[in-house]
Amino acid sequence: LAPQDYRELFVLVTAGGTREPLDPVRYIGNYSSGKMGYALAQAAWERGARVTLISASSLPPPSEVEMVRVETAEEMWNAVVKNFDKADVVLKAAAVADFRPASRSAQKIKKGDNHKLILELEPTVDILASLGRRKERQILVGFAAETEELLANARQKLEDKRLDLIVANDVTRPGAGFGSDTNICTLLFPDGRKEELPRLTKLEAAHRILDAVKTLPHFPGRE
Ligand code: PMT
Repeated sequence: LAPQDYRELFVLVTAGGTREPLDPVRYIGNYSSGKMGYALAQAAWERGARVTLISASSLPPPSEVEMVRVETAEEMWNAVVKNFDKADVVLKAAAVADFRPASRSAQKIKKGDNHKLILELEPTVDILASLGRRKERQILVGFAAETEELLANARQKLEDKRLDLIVANDVTRPGAGFGSDTNICTLLFPDGRKEELPRLTKLEAAHRILDAVKTLPHFPGRE
């Protein structure tokens, strides 16, 4: 049986890859399956937390977890904000689109005689950075999916988004990142600490992330 060290805490998790529609049949998306976020939701629930999972994945919800299904970055933002004030810990494993089509065609875009289609994209809201600006007592955990300069880029995000912990993911390594059942994570803390995790199942990695959150000075949970 898992320790009940998250008992009475409210944990908010985001999972999956957002989809930004271009027209009624197409979208811009990414390779996130939702498995990492679902594993975090499962682990927090096993440890006694009340969990809300904001999911942009089509996987079925894990066990007793309350789930809100969303599609776009904007919908994820709205769902996260609704739940943020009551959250004690926020775990942002979702891969959120940084850009979306500036306009959405009401009808299927036709191929016509065009050899090229030029799309105009506009930035989406950076959910995590906005939460970093408005957080009070919440513990904010971000992820960084990187293909180069893993630690430098992740540490920059930790600072820029005012996070309490970041989980750095080199998504080019086999057995890590998008879609797989395992992950290889490095945890970076604001005080400069660094913890490298071996290749673990996403559920094992999720428990190690929750262990790390417990070492933060303002962790509100109890044994
Ligand atoms: O879902 P799986 O298939 O299991 O894959 C897991 C994963 C690879 C998606 C996951 O481990 C992971 O790394 N998630 C973060 C992916 C990502 O979008 O990273 P990023 O470096 O682009 O974003 C940094 C952080 O800011 C993330 O916590 C992200 O949720 C957040 N963000 C990003 C953009 C945005 N507009 N809003 C955000 O909140």
